[in-house]
Amino acid sequence: MLRKVTVVGAGHVGATAAQRVAEKHLAREVVMVDVVEGLPQGKALDQWQSAPVERFDVKMRGSNDYDAAADSDVFVVTAGIARKPGMSRDDLVKTNAGIVRSVGQEIARIAPEAIVIMVSNPLDAMCYVARQATGFPRERVIGMAGVLDTARYRMFLAEALDVSVEDIQAMVLGGHGDTMVPLVSYTTVSGIPVTQLLPADQIEAIVARTRGGGAEIVGYLKTGSAYYAPSAAATQMVEAIALDKKRILPASAWLQGEYDLHDVYCGVPCKLGRAGLEGILEVTLSPAEHQALRASAAAVQEVQQVIDHG
Ligand code: LAC
Repeated sequence: MLRKVTVVGAGHVGATAAQRVAEKHLAREVVMVDVVEGLPQGKALDQWQSAPVERFDVKMRGSNDYDAAADSDVFVVTAGIARKPGMSRDDLVKTNAGIVRSVGQEIARIAPEAIVIMVSNPLDAMCYVARQATGFPRERVIGMAGVLDTARYRMFLAEALDVSVEDIQAMVLGGHGDTMVPLVSYTTVSGIPVTQLLPADQIEAIVARTRGGGAEIVGYLKTGSAYYAPSAAATQMVEAIALDKKRILPASAWLQGEYDLHDVYCGVPCKLGRAGLEGILEVTLSPAEHQALRASAAAVQEVQQVIDHG
């Protein structure tokens, strides 16, 4: 159990993540920080009042002031504006880069040893901003997206096969965008390659639906984007760190030669434990998958350049 986890941003993703972290007893104290007056205080109080019923012995607190987050072990950063219909995640870059930069500076000031899990979009580029703003090593700035994208892919496969979601093992790599790379060659159903169970065109359709998984939900909600699955995915990463599980999860990491990619945040198989990013697994990819990963990383690099040069 960690001492303190702080969620930055008390919107749907942030507040749901805070509740999930508390219900799983991953920290003694869960703090929510948001710029909107009263919002984190009100939500945190409401959440804490669910503790006697849900039976989690975790203190919850909301604040507009980062000092409440001092010495947090882990931050989950969800601050920023969300997509509206028709917007790509990259459309958010300028506004959210400014927000994430100031959040990163605050984190470095009040919790210089913390691990930061980025959730704000465009995800991979916001990891880049957070790493610059905090000055933290790559072990302590990672991005949530692969777990979410993989969860969507697993759900769609379970639905198509009419089997338990638990029995689908898969990984979606690459940036959290239209170029993400579901690894069909590593997708199994209790060890059975999915290609033996579903025709290629159906797998292709599921891959396409996974790539558009976030936009499909924005299309329904109209005024916001997904939050149940994103908060669940972020919480799984907190859990891997809090319990030092050494889980192998797809996450966005700063690559320095892995997969022949340099100086870019991109989703790859990561080992997550109490030290944060404890390793990157380099698996053999088919030429097409490697090409797709390179293209996805190039798309992130373009956004990183926009951030550097305006
Ligand atoms: C999504 C947003 C959160 O994929 O990026 O739903």
